[in-house]
Amino acid sequence: MCGIVGYIGKRDSQDILIEGLKKLEYRGYDSAGIAVFTKNGLEVRKSIGRLANLEQKLDGQPLEGSVGIGHTRWATHGKPSDANSHPHTDNTHKFSVVHNGIIENYLDLKDELIAKGCKFVSETDTEVISHLVADEYDGDIVKAVQRAVKRMRGAFALGVLTEYEPERLVAVRFASPLVIGIGEGENFIGSDIPAILEHTRNVYILNDGEMAILTKTGVELMTTEGEFISKEIFHVDWDLVTAEKAGFDHFMLKEIYEQPKAYRDTMMGRISDDGRSVELTEIGMTADEIRAIRKIHIVACGTAMHAGLVGKTVLESLARIPVETDVASEYRYRSPIITPDTLVIVVSQSGETADTLAALREAKRCGARVLAITNVVGSSVSREADDVIITQAGPEIAVASTKAYTSQLIAFYLLGLFLAETLGTKDSAFIAEVVTAMHQLPEQVESILDNAPVLKQVAENLSKHNNLFFIGRGVDFAVAQEGSLKLKEISYIHSEAYAAGELKHGTLALIEEGIPVISLITQEDLYEKTLSNIKEVKARGAHVLGVVNEGFEGEVAKSVDELFAIPKTLPLLSPALSVVPLQLIAYYASLARGNDVDKPRNLAKSVTVE
Ligand code: M6R
Repeated sequence: MCGIVGYIGKRDSQDILIEGLKKLEYRGYDSAGIAVFTKNGLEVRKSIGRLANLEQKLDGQPLEGSVGIGHTRWATHGKPSDANSHPHTDNTHKFSVVHNGIIENYLDLKDELIAKGCKFVSETDTEVISHLVADEYDGDIVKAVQRAVKRMRGAFALGVLTEYEPERLVAVRFASPLVIGIGEGENFIGSDIPAILEHTRNVYILNDGEMAILTKTGVELMTTEGEFISKEIFHVDWDLVTAEKAGFDHFMLKEIYEQPKAYRDTMMGRISDDGRSVELTEIGMTADEIRAIRKIHIVACGTAMHAGLVGKTVLESLARIPVETDVASEYRYRSPIITPDTLVIVVSQSGETADTLAALREAKRCGARVLAITNVVGSSVSREADDVIITQAGPEIAVASTKAYTSQLIAFYLLGLFLAETLGTKDSAFIAEVVTAMHQLPEQVESILDNAPVLKQVAENLSKHNNLFFIGRGVDFAVAQEGSLKLKEISYIHSEAYAAGELKHGTLALIEEGIPVISLITQEDLYEKTLSNIKEVKARGAHVLGVVNEGFEGEVAKSVDELFAIPKTLPLLSPALSVVPLQLIAYYASLARGNDVDKPRNLAKSVTVE
């Protein structure tokens, strides 16, 4: 995830910016840069890779000046490179911008600015902002930023400098966090509190649509409409480690809570303005090439493979193309039938998983087109695939994957709708209905998160057991597998996920008095069948927690011991909601057992060996 830091004061800014960026390293990044007002004007240095590379560039040629902005970039538009790193400038080099977030309409703005003569030197959406601010400038940087912001759609936190007004640093927040640090004779901006914590504990937390104008001696707050506002100062009493986790106890919990944002960001820019269709401009296949696809193989490992299990149902039901989902470590060795009319979809958060990469190469060797769903721009998988859908989950730090999984689900929904539209397998009214329901998901996840204390209690009880089962039918079974993996991975409780209808073919022998069973019951057409399976385990003494859609609690309550209701959505979209309580149960069970939640034993975040 990108990081922003900015300084205006009396001290040399370079070290403050670099040290601030170092405090944001935990968020992950692939390049970094700073812009400082020096005696030569606004000077910029940037570098791909670690901050040490940037420091090397500055070594012997420091940028001396007491006003500056800095940025660590996590690539979203355009690969990691010096040119794509921030800060970005306009063609006169008089304006400089750092940006977190996504500018949804950057291509339209870019075309317009090119027509006016702007020359673009990067592939980023951010560069549009520096040209736009320069274009809007008529002697007042605050007004220029306000006018520019009005033209931008998306999510952004900005730090803006202009050589014409070296006494001012302008900051804006719109759906991407930004705080203003208040010092004595100096002021700061930061995308996160750790970036400025060393210098001040007094901050203003900007809300969406608010901006700050910083000088050495003060901070003015206003809306982006130009109305002055006042705000309470927030005193931070977190230590640095707590601040890195934004006040959460663990990265995993923070990432679970980041899911509504990850959903919004992954959808952003991929749905038409009228909300009726999906635009996946990153897919280079022509309509004829899409029509020629005869089958799809989804290949991935672990949690990403579980997203692929949901993806199978999504693509089959929306695009009506046969789909097989495979574990990547098995794929190559089972001599899969890969033909040029096979589309192979590899799914990988990191984009570096050795087995997934090997499967991708095998698919390409056999002449298949490969589409990657990954969270990391510039990763091996993203570089080697023919088409890439980047999930916009932001860096995932906890070993247990949560927001990456749910963003992969969103990517599958978008892809399914895109294929359905191209192939004509679903009409526009249906597509619009799904898109509308998808837009509701972030808020629905928030309402599940509001009930976390209930799940904490459930998890504390479960944590006393050594075995349990997850059951479900259809996509509920796919989600059950993810819930089971999550629990095993971090709580070390043995669990199995079972297709609810399959229990009676052997596994029922393991059901004994008091064993916990978590049953997902979100598919209306399968309610009755799942309820009979619940009765089978109940009759043998199981203690059943039902995860059920709101509105059906009454019916299910008679058959289960405990209930957790999730908001109602379309059956196909329910995995994006039903997995959230399972993530929280795993988290709290791990906590109750005193485990290291973020770094579970024997596991690594990225598995780069076969
Ligand atoms: O980076 P990838 O998505 O390719 O990683 C695949 C698996 O190693 C990963 O999902 C793993 O199963 C997670 N630790 C599960 O939480």
